[in-house]
Amino acid sequence: MGGWEGRYPALREVTPASAETVSTSRDIERYAALFASRTKVMKSSAMRDLMAVTARPEVISLAGGLPDTSTFPPDTFAAVAQRIARESCAKALQYGPTEGFERTKECIREVMAAEDMDPDSDDIIVTTGGQQAIDLITKTLVDPGDPVICEGPTYPGAVPVFCSYEADTHQVEMDAEGMRVDALERLLDRLEADGRRPKFIYSVPSFQNPAGVTLSVERRRRLVEIARRREVLVIEDNPYGLLRYEGETLPPLYQLDGGDYVIYLGTFSKILSPGIRLGWCVAPPPVMEKIVLGKQAADLCTSTLTQYFVSEYFAEGRWREYIDSLVGIYRSRRDAMLDALERYFPPQAEWTQPTGGLFVWATLPTYIETADLLAKALRDNVAFVPGSAAYADGRGSSSMRLNFSGSNEDEIREGIKRIGKVVWEQVALYETITAEHPLPQREPDTAEMEQAADVLPLHRRRERRE
Ligand SMILES: Cc1ncc(COP(=O)(O)O)c(C=O)c1O
Repeated sequence: MGGWEGRYPALREVTPASAETVSTSRDIERYAALFASRTKVMKSSAMRDLMAVTARPEVISLAGGLPDTSTFPPDTFAAVAQRIARESCAKALQYGPTEGFERTKECIREVMAAEDMDPDSDDIIVTTGGQQAIDLITKTLVDPGDPVICEGPTYPGAVPVFCSYEADTHQVEMDAEGMRVDALERLLDRLEADGRRPKFIYSVPSFQNPAGVTLSVERRRRLVEIARRREVLVIEDNPYGLLRYEGETLPPLYQLDGGDYVIYLGTFSKILSPGIRLGWCVAPPPVMEKIVLGKQAADLCTSTLTQYFVSEYFAEGRWREYIDSLVGIYRSRRDAMLDALERYFPPQAEWTQPTGGLFVWATLPTYIETADLLAKALRDNVAFVPGSAAYADGRGSSSMRLNFSGSNEDEIREGIKRIGKVVWEQVALYETITAEHPLPQREPDTAEMEQAADVLPLHRRRERRE
């Protein structure tokens, strides 16, 4: 069954009827024979599903990855819109080139220059959000059954893309320094021994969604060296690089590689607005040629209107100031979340200490299923993303992604308090049951050890943050 009711059956009873999109059995019979076989492996996006469930105003949602768009100055919006109306109305309402306008690409080059990258304008394509860039790159490179590699956990929005193109997705464990590059090498050796070559390694190196961890400089260098030596493409997805709350800027993989083996994805969603739906991809010319063909088939061109919005906004020269203001706001919210976790979560839980981005990843004892926990939390009007959404194979079931950008500090404290309450209840229940029926003492078996590898080995203590 697709949709949220298939993924999280426990949510059915806490969901208002209006949010349901259940097909009647007659509808299913009528259309089932027509569906392409790939629809069998298509997955719904966990965040999209949850947006329907969390739309009720009384719900504190720590589920979405929503930037706080209420921080964007309405006066700036009005001034930019008026300039477009006055000076470029007809052009802004017209179709544009598939690759995007040169003026938009200049803005993209400015954003990338802020992280010391200098791509050629011809290597850039403007896309309908970073999400479309992930889709186009997968459409361009992946045949059914092809191996692709990503982090475990990975960006939950990438999972449905890899599933749609029927990729054979392999996820490499992470620790507090991001993807375990030694584990990656072992996986690459195993695939090579089977005569298989991954089409790409997808990574979110900075302030990863969902884990909130950042790939260390040493591992960045090693990953690029591996990609070059083994001639494997790396897709670097970097929506959060400029949202750093402390510490030194780290070199993006694209900068370390120079753009031969690293394809770069960026977006304006988290540094300006997701509503404008503008992202981009930087790729070498032969790959770009195919991506352009894929985009022509998908949507002809990215919205011209919002491309005009971005170039007029950048012409004002204050886009860095707005990011600085976001950094201040999100840093305080991150701190509020980490403090609340210390206060309200039981000692059996652990979580990451993000130095940027929008997310904390928390892991509970393995006997707690976070999909079930979500149903209980929703009864208390609070939501998070269950960890299984970040895996293609159903792992991560005792973890959760918590967002701190979309709610204010009071809401974050209250939300974590409510989640903490249901977690404590589960822990107490388990302890009561196991005290009544003590489990035999024994060494964990291999399957249990492997399941433990789901869980990032993390430290809950504040002083562990860099
Ligand atoms: C890692 C990552 N990639 C891509 C996206 C897609 O963003 P958009 O399509 O809004 O640019 C997101 C959004 O949360 C993300 O976290």
